[in-house]
Amino acid sequence: MEEELSHFFGNYEPALKLLTMPRDTNSAGDISGGWIMTQVDTAGAIVASQVARCRVVTIAVTNFLFKQPVFVGDLVSCYGKIEKIGRTSITVHVEVCVQRNRFEDRCIKVTEATVVYVAVDEERRPREIPQNLKDMYIEKENSAKITERGQRT
Ligand SMILES: CC(C)(COP(=O)(O)OP(=O)(O)OC[C@H]1O[C@@H](n2cnc3c(N)ncnc32)[C@H](O)[C@@H]1OP(=O)(O)O)[C@@H](O)C(=O)NCCC(=O)NCCS
Repeated sequence: MEEELSHFFGNYEPALKLLTMPRDTNSAGDISGGWIMTQVDTAGAIVASQVARCRVVTIAVTNFLFKQPVFVGDLVSCYGKIEKIGRTSITVHVEVCVQRNRFEDRCIKVTEATVVYVAVDEERRPREIPQNLKDMYIEKENSAKITERGQRT
């Protein structure tokens, strides 16, 4: 079943928007899974690094689901939501939707995945995420929830 754009409002942060090109296709002419995985990884890394305020690397990917195909000319939007902040890791749930017609608002969910990133230092060693950055994230999330509740009432 198709899920539409309204699903993505709320605590999902917009991270990437791209127009698909013929060069991104597989041999059948659809956008390749590898291309979509790259965008998911990049989008999640952007969201994670904005919290960690440093370089992050991908350590694990789970629950990758390609629910609908992506075609040449689709406008692809990736959204990320922080699921968990650990000592050095940040887990991001990434959802991808497409506008088959970029001149219209209708947007359907095509892919989702959970990606775990690790904050690293210059030598690529895991680096602890400081408590003040975690607190800043929690504060931002709480104020977003209050705003959302206010908009609903
Ligand atoms: C990421 C890396 C620096 C971590 O080093 P490490 O010594 O394995 O680190 P640790 O065992 O201390 O684990 C670091 C964090 O990852 C988490 N982690 C480890 N294995 C995991 C897994 N399979 N799934 C989810 N999280 C995992 C740990 O729980 C820990 O999180 P926490 O500190 O929040 O509790 C190292 O594994 C690495 O360089 N991997 C290659 C990264 C890469 O090249 N990615 C692709 C391109 S970006």
